[in-house]
Amino acid sequence: MPRRPRSPFRPLTDAPAVREAARALFEAVSEEMSGRTLEAKSYERAIREIARLRGRELFLPILTGGTGRGARLRLADGRMLVDFIGGIGVYGFGHGDPDLIETAVAAAASAAVFQGHLMPGPEYRNLSRALVRHAGRRIRHAWLSLSGSMANENALKMILQKHAPADRMLAFEKGWHGRTMGLLELTDRPAHREGLPIRGSALYVPFYDPDLPDSTQRSVVALEAHLARYPGRVAGMLFELVQGEAGFRMAPREFFAALMERCRRAGLAVWVDEVQTFARTGELFAFQTLGLEEFVDVVTVGKTLQGSAALFTQKYNPKPGLVAGTCAGSTVGMAVGARIIARLESEGYLGPEGRVAVLGGRVTRRLEALRKRMPKAVGASTGIGAMHAFVPFDGSPEVVREVLHAAFDEGLLLFSAGDAPAKLRMLLPVNTSDEELEVGFAMLEKALVRVAERRERLC
Ligand SMILES: Cc1ncc(COP(=O)(O)O)c(C=O)c1O
Repeated sequence: MPRRPRSPFRPLTDAPAVREAARALFEAVSEEMSGRTLEAKSYERAIREIARLRGRELFLPILTGGTGRGARLRLADGRMLVDFIGGIGVYGFGHGDPDLIETAVAAAASAAVFQGHLMPGPEYRNLSRALVRHAGRRIRHAWLSLSGSMANENALKMILQKHAPADRMLAFEKGWHGRTMGLLELTDRPAHREGLPIRGSALYVPFYDPDLPDSTQRSVVALEAHLARYPGRVAGMLFELVQGEAGFRMAPREFFAALMERCRRAGLAVWVDEVQTFARTGELFAFQTLGLEEFVDVVTVGKTLQGSAALFTQKYNPKPGLVAGTCAGSTVGMAVGARIIARLESEGYLGPEGRVAVLGGRVTRRLEALRKRMPKAVGASTGIGAMHAFVPFDGSPEVVREVLHAAFDEGLLLFSAGDAPAKLRMLLPVNTSDEELEVGFAMLEKALVRVAERRERLC
């Protein structure tokens, strides 16, 4: 009997010969990279050159060199850092994960670097299928793209087209959604759109405030007031369920459900931006962690996915020509994105007792312990799963910057978020080990002690 041909949709690394060759290439490259180390002066020169080429300084003097391992990132001068920010949430499985690298190597050898919407390959199909399968009963379609902003821009267009002539969108105060002209309107950061022409299409609703007993009611009233003021002109509402750039501001299910319910009754689109929350809150989507599936019409994902996508119900499938574009993503990004989803599911990361939820508990406990030891240096913390933030000292942007640089000197990568108060933010790999947490938090403590001593000297 002739052998049945193998399906092109099976992961390439299922073939032992492919996995073995991919591993051999990875090992050869790792060995070569580990021998390529810049001396301190050359490293500094390279950092200055990058700044010159970009036209502005890097936020931190980081030039990576090789893949690292787990939460540890190797710099081009051989230094190893503990990375608790992962390129602002891109490295969901940390650095140098052998399985993901083998997946990437095999995908890189299998097809062109990029795949477009005109000529999709098996990786395009696999990723779209995995996303639609996991996004719940209502979501039927996935439109792949490169950046979170592009996925959001596509979602915005789908919603506006479906609800035309409605031309306004509700969004949360302090929400952050991307840097395109369309999204800068919905992103509540006036400084990020300085000097740009703005249509004025965003109608802001206050986010949840745990200190206000009537916070939910206040936001519902604001939403109702917008609807009353612009009858028939509001297309939908954009939800960021854990406000990332605002410093991981969170809200209970009832808060979102009340607003989504009101949107539903008014016939508005409910759009959830999960570019930052994807895979980080315990379930694949934060709307699942919060039990809000029944409301969601459109959801956007990015970062940990290694590409991006807008996912939507049948109703929001746009007319031909509205969304297109040359590139849907890189072949490697699509293959690794699908593999990440498969591993999150098969390796016990998801669910209330899953590894992401367990990591969340560990980080929260460490932050609480640090707060007990250094009450002046560690203020209120918020977070869930693999995303956490806390207010250091008085929460001024200057002190956040100072701690970030002190932490970097100790060997720990963090990032800032929010304002008034500003916070220190962590987007940890979902597979961060206890040892990595131990070492990273010891570095953080040392950095805080140094900053505290410096501040005391200045007083
Ligand atoms: C919630 C949210 N939406 C959208 C974006 C934009 O994604 P990108 O920077 O990939 O365009 C970000 C990026 O930080 C984000 O956090």
